[in-house]
Amino acid sequence: METIRGRTSHTLDLIELRARLANYNRITLDLGTGDGKFAFCHAENFPGTFTIGIDSCRENLRQYSRANLPNLLYIIASAQNLPRELHGCVSYVTINFPWGSLLESLLNADPLLMHGLGTILTSRASLDVRLNGGALAEQGWSLEDGAAQVRENLVRVGFQVGKPTFLDSRALRAFPSTWAKLLAFGRDPRAIEIKSCCNRVGSGG
Ligand SMILES: C[S@@+](CC[C@H](N)C(=O)[O-])C[C@H]1O[C@@H](n2cnc3c(N)ncnc32)[C@H](O)[C@@H]1O
Repeated sequence: METIRGRTSHTLDLIELRARLANYNRITLDLGTGDGKFAFCHAENFPGTFTIGIDSCRENLRQYSRANLPNLLYIIASAQNLPRELHGCVSYVTINFPWGSLLESLLNADPLLMHGLGTILTSRASLDVRLNGGALAEQGWSLEDGAAQVRENLVRVGFQVGKPTFLDSRALRAFPSTWAKLLAFGRDPRAIEIKSCCNRVGSGG
């Protein structure tokens, strides 16, 4: 599993990972973390929770991955090939304003993503997905229809999904991620939040 700190990569094996997680009962994963700001804020605000940010792109992670917090780790990995080392560990997943193949996989119920999520989650884990209008429009969906499609896909693999919540520019401004701020002041400051939880998802056991 490739981890990153500043410009430096380090391969972390299962033993090292378990040692870092040893004193934490709750592990949060921010998938498609971008520059990692949301994961950093979460780790700062919840020192008793271990927070992991994952993104397939390393370039944007340089600043926040330098942070010296004992409960924060950044991993370079694709959402469709989540590290096996996280198996059965993660109690809370956030996917904030996904685009590209991450959004595509949510819209298409890609088994690689859905099964991967199923394998990393603990029982009674929760998942929050926030989708924005511009990213969905790029994939040919309206905000409402795209959110409904993702919601349906999550239900199909076993999540219990709550009622979607609309996020306007004010809500986006208050949200602690870099992309939320950009959206708030951009041309299409609309997003939908889908909160869900699961007992067991997909075939991940
Ligand atoms: C619009 S940015 C949002 C970043 C961050 N969540 C935020 O709120 O600031 C979407 C992120 O998803 C990541 N992403 C897209 N497809 C991915 C995939 N298949 N696996 C992991 N990350 C992916 C991109 O690299 C990008 O950093």
